[in-house]
This record gives sequence, C-alpha cells and structure tokens, in this order.
Amino acid sequence: MKIQIAPSILAADFLNIEDSVQMVTEAGADLIHVDIMDGHFVPNLTFGPQLVSALKKKTTLPLDVHLMVDNPHDAIPQFSEAGADWLSIHPETSIHLHKDITHIKELGKKAGIALNPATPLQVMNDIIHELDYILIMSVNPGFGGQSFIEHSREKIRRLKKYLEMQNLNIPIEIDGGVTLENMEPLLQDGVSIFVSGSGIFKQKDPQNILKKMRDLTSRYEIS
Ligand code: DX5
Ligand code: ZN
Repeated sequence: MKIQIAPSILAADFLNIEDSVQMVTEAGADLIHVDIMDGHFVPNLTFGPQLVSALKKKTTLPLDVHLMVDNPHDAIPQFSEAGADWLSIHPETSIHLHKDITHIKELGKKAGIALNPATPLQVMNDIIHELDYILIMSVNPGFGGQSFIEHSREKIRRLKKYLEMQNLNIPIEIDGGVTLENMEPLLQDGVSIFVSGSGIFKQKDPQNILKKMRDLTSRYEIS
C-alpha cells in the first residue's frame, strides 16, 4: 500500500495558500488536507466550500476534506460539489451514519470516518466494510499545533488487528500532532496516511521536512 502524506493547510499562511500548496506539491505531497470547522462541533471556524472550490482550481492533488461540523448531512453535498475528493465525517455528529457514508460514495467520493480520541472503534463496526479510509484523531479536533496523544498508538494497533481479522484492507489515516520525529512508530503500527499541519508548514524548511518524511515512508513501502 502506498503511504501518503497529507499536509494540512490549517497551518499554512492563509494569505499565500496557493504558494503553500504548490510548495508541498513540489516536495512530494500526495493529498491536501482541508479542515472544515463550524464553530459548533469544534470551537473554531475555518473554511467553507468556496475555499475548497478555489483550491480545486489550483491543484491536481486530491483534496482530503475533513468535516468537523455539526451537520454533515448538509455539508456533504456542498463540499462534494465544491471539489472535495475525499470526505470524512465524525460519527459523533452523524445521526444516520450509514446514510451519510453511502451518500458520499454515491457522489463518487472516497468516504471516511473520523474518530475523536475518546470515541471507541466499535462505533464503526456495522459500517466499516463501506469505508475507503479511517481517520484516527490523535488530538482533540479544533486546532492545529497540539501535542500528539500517545494513547492513539494503542488504538491504531487495535484497529489494525481488527482490520486484519476481518480481512479488510482499509487505510488508516492519523491526524493531529504528527511530526517527522514521531512518524516512524506510527508506520510500524500500521498508519498509511499521515496528516501534518504544524509539523510541515510551521517548520523552518517545510520542503526539506516533507522530503525527509517521504524518504522515511518510502522505506516502509518496500518492506
Ligand atoms: C485538528 C485538525 C488537524 C490539524 C492538524 O482539528 O483536524 O487536521 O490541521 O494540525 P497539526 O498537524 O498541527 O496537529
Ligand atoms: Zn483534520
């Protein structure tokens, strides 16, 4: 399975988003992670569909749109139309999770579930076979630049084991506090999609960091 790196533009320079996207594209990013926050589900506000559609015109990389909103039912068609390629929703916000996930797939997008640190894996049991990816939050959603919650590693290992037992090959995405320094154990645990915001954009030389991340992940692709 190809290991993917998804820089989160939440940590980019908002007045130069186009340059930031170009910079990470040149350095080998696979996806652009876009955090949608509504000020209700999480105590922060970020981007709307217009930003997503503006980004879509400027990049050929798939847009990995992470919906941290109270009402995914309404947001799914809006962000799909705007140009999201991947859409993840939180089960903490979805009353009809099966309906919302199948809706994303009917729109021709990759469907993912994002789990808060305290949300148990079991919430996905009866929908897991429909998922294109699973996003494990390793911080409480709402802000970039928080510290990685170590317990997430144990959760990922449990998830990996469960997927193997079920014969499911669903990529695990990690989001929150990911840096070049803490990626290797996560690769060993079975993560194959790495979201990183501050770990890339807030560094002195983001391109160099991303290249180093790429070197590291490529070692795990071969084995
Ligand atoms: C947090 C967001 C993350 C955030 C990660 O609510 O879902 O995607 O951008 O930022 P860092 O990598 O700085 O923790
Ligand atoms: Zn995110």
